[in-house]
Amino acid sequence: MAFPVTRMRRLRRTSGVRDLVRETRVAPADLIQPYFVRHGSGQEEIPSMPGQYHLSVDALVERAAEAHAAGIPAVIVFGLPARKDEAASEAFDDEGIVQMAVRALRAHVPELVVMTDVCLCQYTSHGHCGIIQDGDVANDVTLEVLADTALSHARAGADMVAPSDMMDGRVAAIRAALDGEGYEHTSILAYSAKFASAFYGPFRDAAHSTPSMGDRRGYQMDPANGREAVREALLDIEEGADMVMVKPALPYLDVLRSLRDETRVPLAAYQVSGEYAMISAAAAQGLMDERAAVLEALTAIRRAGADMVITYHAARAARWLS
Ligand code: PBG
Repeated sequence: MAFPVTRMRRLRRTSGVRDLVRETRVAPADLIQPYFVRHGSGQEEIPSMPGQYHLSVDALVERAAEAHAAGIPAVIVFGLPARKDEAASEAFDDEGIVQMAVRALRAHVPELVVMTDVCLCQYTSHGHCGIIQDGDVANDVTLEVLADTALSHARAGADMVAPSDMMDGRVAAIRAALDGEGYEHTSILAYSAKFASAFYGPFRDAAHSTPSMGDRRGYQMDPANGREAVREALLDIEEGADMVMVKPALPYLDVLRSLRDETRVPLAAYQVSGEYAMISAAAAQGLMDERAAVLEALTAIRRAGADMVITYHAARAARWLS
């Protein structure tokens, strides 16, 4: 029955009715806060990501505890090593920065879900996500290093490891390594559909991980490919991924929807540094209302099918939502 019997505006009249018919909600419980941790003491704001910080382990624990108290259930930790080399040595060092950070979070914020990013780009002197052989990122050699890295994160107490390197077979390699050492309860969140995106720009400044030669298009996905993203996710699930991810988020809502429809595992979206920077910069210039823009973007990402969102806005959004 069309107009005048049907009037869509009837259910938009009051905020009470709008609340009642709202299809998608965002709660602090859906959000995961990323943190950058480094050696040393104190903290500095990251120039490319105003409002985000390079944190010492102590400062990280303090911020994570605050975020958790505000309702954020989980964090994902990125490390800045003391030293980079060809072998990515600090990535799998039990005394590496991420491993120390995870132990501290475990000890001081026991209820927090601690996730780690498993990748080599912050740790290699060339800035690529794997080991270079004959001028190329060598897939199968890299798998061993990634598995060692994930294992050292598990030993430190990580609840969940999140490989973001985009090597083929990494989920199976990591699952086998974890199970082989008795870490069968450590979960894997696979960055399954990670696109070779310009939206990682501010992160690469923040993590000092811009490749010194070439780019990442030989392993990260072509932004043009949606069907391939479904194949990636299905393969990761077959290899043992407990959850899968799409990254970036807002420019890839269709991919989120496809993965939601084609898989049965929990689905994460990563609202990346460039997405954060766009909203922050526009808000700083008075062009958009920051709070409204952030909550609208998060709602859209959830509506597209994400169960959870990794976002630099998490801790602030939690305060706005409570
Ligand atoms: C590491 C990694 C990257 C991001 C998360 N893990 C950078 C990259 O692949 O270049 C991007 C996160 C962001 O932009 O917020 N491989």
